[in-house]
Amino acid sequence: MAGYVPGYQPPDIASWIKLNTNENSYPPSPRVVEAILAELGPDGASLRTYPSASSQKLRETAGELYGFDPSWIIMANGSDEVLNNLIRAFAAEGEEIAYVHPSYSYYATLAEVQGARVRTYGLTEDFRIAGFPERYPGKLFFLTTPNAPLGPAFPLDYIEDLARRCAGMLVLDETYADFADGSALELVKRYDNVVVTRTLSKSYSLAGMRLGLAIARPEVIAALDKIRDHYNLDRLAQAACVAALKDQEYLQECCRRIRATREWFSTGLRTLGYEVIPSQGNYVFATPPDRNGKRLYEGLFERKILVRHFSDPLLAHGLRISIGTDAEMKATLAAIEEIG
Ligand SMILES: Cc1ncc(COP(=O)(O)O)c(C=O)c1O
Repeated sequence: MAGYVPGYQPPDIASWIKLNTNENSYPPSPRVVEAILAELGPDGASLRTYPSASSQKLRETAGELYGFDPSWIIMANGSDEVLNNLIRAFAAEGEEIAYVHPSYSYYATLAEVQGARVRTYGLTEDFRIAGFPERYPGKLFFLTTPNAPLGPAFPLDYIEDLARRCAGMLVLDETYADFADGSALELVKRYDNVVVTRTLSKSYSLAGMRLGLAIARPEVIAALDKIRDHYNLDRLAQAACVAALKDQEYLQECCRRIRATREWFSTGLRTLGYEVIPSQGNYVFATPPDRNGKRLYEGLFERKILVRHFSDPLLAHGLRISIGTDAEMKATLAAIEEIG
C-alpha cells in the first residue's frame, strides 16, 4: 500500500514562511511553557516514572471546558491516534468506512491498514455531500467540518440529518472548529452514534506536543480505552494540555487574530483575481486566474514560502494556504502579486 504523505517539514524551518500544514504561527500560551518546566523540575527527575495512564486530569479539564462528564472524553497522542483507534474499534477487515473527498485522506490510509473497505462521497456545487444515501450502512462515516482543504463548515441541521442516516458511527473531525463560527459538539449528547474529535495542534499552537481528544458516549470511550496504548500521552504533553485548555483567554485572542487575518488575506487575493472559497479554518483554498496551482506553488517555493499543493485532479488548480501572522501573510500576498 502507499502510505500517507504529510506536508513537508523543511530542516531549515526558521528560514521559511511555513504555511503548508495549518500549524499556528503564534506561540502557545506562556502558561504551557511554565507548566512543562514545572513538570520537568530542575533535574528532570519526573521523567523517571510513567505518566498517568488515563490522563484523568486532562479528561476532567476538557470535560469542564466542553460541558461533558470526564467519562465522555478520551485523550490522544494527536487526533490522528484517536482516528486510528476509531477504525480499529469499529471497522473490521472487509467492513466499510466512508468519507468526503476532498477532505482528510489519512482516513483511507488508516482503513487500508485494517483491511477495511473505503468509499468516498464527493461534494456538490453548494457544498453538500453528493449522493449520500437515505441509510448509510457502513461502520464509520468521517466528516471533516470545517472541511480541509476547502474551508467551509457544514450546517448543524445538515450534520444532524447525517447522524440519523448513518447506521454506524458518524465521526465529526472538528480539527478546525476553534476557528469556525460554530461546532456540532452538542450532537454527541443527542445521538449515540456521534463522535467528535478535536486537536490542540492548530488553535492551541501545540502540533509539536501531539495532543488530541475525542468526545463520545461512555460506551464508545470505554471501547477506545481498551485498544489505545496505555501510556499514550507523555508527562510533558499532559502538563502542557491542562495549562493550554485552562488558558481560554489566550486561545480566544489567538483565534480572533487568525480569523481577522484570514479575512483581509482572502479579500487581498480576490482583488488579484483569485477565487477564494470562504473558509472557517486557519487556511484558505485559493485558485489563481490561470488555474495553475503548481506554477504558483513553485513561484512561492523559490521565495521560501511553503504552501500546500495537492496533485489530486479535484484540487490541482489551487493551493491551500495556512493563515500565519499578519507579517507572514503580507509577505505572501506581495510574493503572489509579484509572481503574477
Ligand atoms: C482534518 C484533519 N484531521 C486530523 C488532523 C490531525 O491532527 P493531529 O495533529 O491532532 O493529529 C489534521 C491535521 O492536519 C487534519 O487536517
